[in-house]
Amino acid sequence: MKKLNIGIIGYGFMGRTHSNAYRQVAKFFDTEYQPVLKAVCARSEDRVKAFADNWGYESYETDWRKLIERDDIDAIDIAAPNHLHREMAIAAAAAGKMVLCEKPLGINPSEGREMADAVNKAGVPNFVWFNYRFVPAVALVKKFVDDGKLGRIYHYRANFLQDWCIEAGVPQGGEGLWRLDVNSAGSGVTGDLLAHCIDTALWINGPIESVSAMTETFVKERMHQETGKVEEVGIDDACAFLARFKNGTLATFESSRYARGHTAGYCLELNGESASVGWKLPDLHLLSYFDDNDGSAVRGWRSIHVSQNDGEHPYMANWWVPGIVVGFEHTFTHGAYQFLKSLEDNTHDRQYSNFEDALKTDEVCAAVLESARTQSWQTIA
Ligand SMILES: NC(=O)c1ccc[n+]([C@@H]2O[C@H](COP(=O)([O-])OP(=O)(O)OC[C@H]3O[C@@H](n4cnc5c(N)ncnc54)[C@H](O)[C@@H]3O)[C@@H](O)[C@H]2O)c1
Repeated sequence: MKKLNIGIIGYGFMGRTHSNAYRQVAKFFDTEYQPVLKAVCARSEDRVKAFADNWGYESYETDWRKLIERDDIDAIDIAAPNHLHREMAIAAAAAGKMVLCEKPLGINPSEGREMADAVNKAGVPNFVWFNYRFVPAVALVKKFVDDGKLGRIYHYRANFLQDWCIEAGVPQGGEGLWRLDVNSAGSGVTGDLLAHCIDTALWINGPIESVSAMTETFVKERMHQETGKVEEVGIDDACAFLARFKNGTLATFESSRYARGHTAGYCLELNGESASVGWKLPDLHLLSYFDDNDGSAVRGWRSIHVSQNDGEHPYMANWWVPGIVVGFEHTFTHGAYQFLKSLEDNTHDRQYSNFEDALKTDEVCAAVLESARTQSWQTIA
């Protein structure tokens, strides 16, 4: 097996999911490349060392520039907050490393453009961790649409709801709460959660042409953990938008962190000429499916348990026996598999978002925010 030496930046939520994926992927999937956990980087030496020991990284760094300079690293994986993606990705590409980056690509399309130009110029493989593409049930939705099972798509509906920052006493900024600080996050639910919905939608249903949005910041000021001062909140707490796809589909998207009772509720539904299909993250192995071609005696919404291992259900042949499910963490393993497969075979049907694809999501996010600001429809370039 060929070794692929990984240097990862960040050991938080995503640092863990990616590390787990690198450890699993070559054991469950047939790949020529075997990821090697070469080094992890974060600023706190005690904590990065403990992370390295726990996950089996061979070494650690506390300065990401040193990690990128190392000759023994093939791929840099960026699992750090959004405002750091641009500088890290451009430096990694300039050093000739493959670059895997968390979403959103940049905090706006001009950053995203610079990042895509950097990997293109360096000619290095690049990947963005839009992991919901790799949920077996979501990949099955894509297959249904590609196979024409739904016919013409009239409606696309997606929402991503959470409820973790309703209390005004939740601070902004710093560890764990950089998402509420516009300088680190770039935007609120739009870049954080709707970016996922948009990436999935572009992948399944093609380009979005225009959007009309509204946003709200419900809690206007929060104490900043780094300055200790009460500061204005610059992110969108909630966002809803209408969209028209190039293929004529009408769509609605919504996201909020104030939807009491929803902790991680990503849902999508497509209504086509012949059939409709729906999926939701809390039951990520199930698809709701309605087929108008069923006879009237049995016609109705059915629940498909996406766990067949005969090749009909994406990724499932590589896991357990039929009827046994996989979860959130496996989506990252599937993403790592897709990336490794495209390294060994450039004719592999690429299922992941690369930097150019993720830039398109940055562009839709920017148009959504601009539409909300100007209260006008925006056309996507
Ligand atoms: N794909 C997904 O489902 C998903 C889910 C959550 C987060 N994300 C994305 O992943 C990225 C990280 O989010 P997270 O939830 O893991 O955040 P986190 O706060 O849990 O972890 C961030 C990590 O970055 C490190 N870090 C911060 N500044 C650094 C610096 N200057 N140098 C080196 N390391 C530094 C921190 O020490 C920490 O380990 C974000 O871009 C976020 O949007 C994606």
